[in-house]
Amino acid sequence: MLKIGIVGGTGYTGVELLRILSQHPQVSIEAITSRKEAGMDVAQLFPSLRGRIELKFSDPAEANLDKCDVVFFATPNGIAMKQVPSLLDAGVRIIDLAADFRIKDIAVWEKWYGMSHACPELVAEAVYGLPEINRDRIKTARLIANPGCYPTAVQLGFLPLVESGAVDLDHLVADAKSGVSGAGRNAEIHTLFAEAADNFRAYGVSGHRHLPEIRQGLSQAAKHPIGLTFVPHLTPMIRGIHATLYAKLLKEVDLQALYENRYVNEPFVDVLPAGSHPETRSVRGSNLCRIAVHRPQGGDTAVILSVTDNLVKGAAGQAVQNMNLMFGLPETLAITHVPLFP
Ligand SMILES: NC(=O)c1ccc[n+]([C@@H]2O[C@H](COP(=O)([O-])OP(=O)(O)OC[C@H]3O[C@@H](n4cnc5c(N)ncnc54)[C@H](OP(=O)(O)O)[C@@H]3O)[C@@H](O)[C@H]2O)c1
Repeated sequence: MLKIGIVGGTGYTGVELLRILSQHPQVSIEAITSRKEAGMDVAQLFPSLRGRIELKFSDPAEANLDKCDVVFFATPNGIAMKQVPSLLDAGVRIIDLAADFRIKDIAVWEKWYGMSHACPELVAEAVYGLPEINRDRIKTARLIANPGCYPTAVQLGFLPLVESGAVDLDHLVADAKSGVSGAGRNAEIHTLFAEAADNFRAYGVSGHRHLPEIRQGLSQAAKHPIGLTFVPHLTPMIRGIHATLYAKLLKEVDLQALYENRYVNEPFVDVLPAGSHPETRSVRGSNLCRIAVHRPQGGDTAVILSVTDNLVKGAAGQAVQNMNLMFGLPETLAITHVPLFP
């Protein structure tokens, strides 16, 4: 049994990790931290886990994380990087759900995240945890930078196109929408019911932190720097990401065949029949990314629709997929949930 520690067990990605890992046959959860709720039964805060998780939250300083085989950080940006060096020295493998190790260029990371990096020497070693690109490197990694929620939906949607060389790489457009759980469980004005319900708005048009992450991933896949306009939106949903992606075609390509071939062996990417309109509720609670390709009016614009659950394939489910790969377990173990409907 793998011994698991979770730092940040009271947030949305933390409780999603608990939901998934409590059904995983090869793990034993040893520590779940929260500074605010230390000493409280996990099931008292999250009745959904009653009968599944018997632990109490513990303070991160007293959690014996160095005795674990793997520690997940489900914490805000800038927390994991302070603890990762000593945990790695103790032989613990790390999956960081935050952004501390996602951007290879330290100056770019420091600019977008507004802080100095505490262990820049480890960033080069960290493996970006998108299995559809880095599966082999994930298997041997000590440190995984789990991708962001928008970057997962946008990169999986664009990957076959940018790898194919069939599109104008300078002018990609990603118009993406997220449910409010993407903002975490902290009380903030813009996620109050009266602010977010019955409302729809863009944000971060001039620049969002996920832009450099997506640009880095797609540039590597294209073997060429890409240009991307990325506009995120907040929708009155709890879970879900819907990305509508646009690219100008430079040569003839059978989009459906391109996507079906690229993802034929991917357990968590489902290419829908041509002309489909995937819905966020078709992936809710699951580790799936569903994708549909379009070419409106037979013109030269490819339109790709990509949907995920931000807390599963966009965070905790993908983190468990990475853990399975790192420890030689079946990649799909404990993450084959059928989406919830309605
Ligand atoms: N929400 C999403 O859809 C999503 C998707 C992909 C990635 N992510 C990323 O995943 C991370 C967690 O997101 P979330 O939405 O779950 O956040 P969240 O709901 O705000 O939860 C944050 C968790 O971190 C703990 N924490 C905060 N400061 C800490 C510190 N200094 N030391 C130790 N623990 C601390 C909190 O508990 P205490 O304060 O009680 O310790 C809480 O359990 C973030 O970096 C986020 O960007 C989120």
